[in-house]
Amino acid sequence: LHSVLGNSEQNSESSVDVENCADMNWDELGFSPVPTDFMYVMKCAKGDEFSQGSLVPYGKIEFSPFATILNYGQGIFEGLKAYRTEDGRILLFRPEENARRMKIGADRLCMPSPSVDQFVTAVKQTAVANKRWVPPLGKGSLYIRPLLMGTGASLDVAPSPEYTLLIYCCPVTNYHKGSLNLKVESKFYRAISGTGGTGGIKSVTNYAPVYAATTAAKADGFSDVLFLDSATGKNIEEVAACNVFVVKGNSICTPETNGAILPGITRKSIIDIALDLGYQVMERAISVEEMLDADEVFCTGTAVVVNSVSSVTYKETRVEFKTGPETLSQKLRKTLVGIQTGCIEDTRGWTIRI
Ligand code: COI
Repeated sequence: LHSVLGNSEQNSESSVDVENCADMNWDELGFSPVPTDFMYVMKCAKGDEFSQGSLVPYGKIEFSPFATILNYGQGIFEGLKAYRTEDGRILLFRPEENARRMKIGADRLCMPSPSVDQFVTAVKQTAVANKRWVPPLGKGSLYIRPLLMGTGASLDVAPSPEYTLLIYCCPVTNYHKGSLNLKVESKFYRAISGTGGTGGIKSVTNYAPVYAATTAAKADGFSDVLFLDSATGKNIEEVAACNVFVVKGNSICTPETNGAILPGITRKSIIDIALDLGYQVMERAISVEEMLDADEVFCTGTAVVVNSVSSVTYKETRVEFKTGPETLSQKLRKTLVGIQTGCIEDTRGWTIRI
């Protein structure tokens, strides 16, 4: 803990009345950094287990320039949300799922990970300490970002001698503004195909490599990029920060989690909701051609929630899809957000009141 430095400017703000929402214009909320009051820190030496963490004032962190996260990308993150209900309660959505996914990612990158209980307790403490930053119902959510990183010094390309679990949070609204017009990327790949790579974990190293494609696509007026599998270049995999689904008639398909696809918690929740609503859901390879022939395409993710795709452009072909309140994706979104915000009964035990 001693290596975590509080930021004195923000520390002075932490004695506010946390019962109420922060005094900010919630209508101007976006998806960009907003400093909150507290963050959670837990450290562990290589070969040990995580044991005791604590809340500290939100602020800058300090570690060695040799830290393995900085030099060799030894780090993974999670993303989950806390929602305010109509009567002011705060609900977390499926935090144990994030804990389990973090463990799988940690194993892949040779890092120790907190237990599911430690993770969930730490997330709850972070959310409670920052509860004035949970937006009012309908204005957004508190995005919670657990980050597990090698913070010890190593020049050797080898696991760090020390690890830190840092959890910070930020009020957010939708990740994308409006529905998506996607470009299918033909030059760069998000992850290597198959089970040997890291596409299926939330490694920090999976994100900057998409910038070249997304920056170019955005400059051409697209909202995001859809990546193809690196083995054949024929099947759709994932958008930069979310999973993708295609709808044809009564059936819904999404690429199977084959090692290269992130096993999204929203993805999994939407599959369950769609099955309950009587749709046929398949997880399997989907070619670009099949997607272009779909009735509807949509994306899912913690940050993205569920968002309709209004068009997909593949090479010279642009195909438009149904959007709007009558689409299946909006029906699924409404159900999911209804459960997350306590407006629809949670029959599956997905939400945790804090
Ligand atoms: C999430 O949805 O939690 C993500 O990790 C996407 C993020 C990279 C914006």
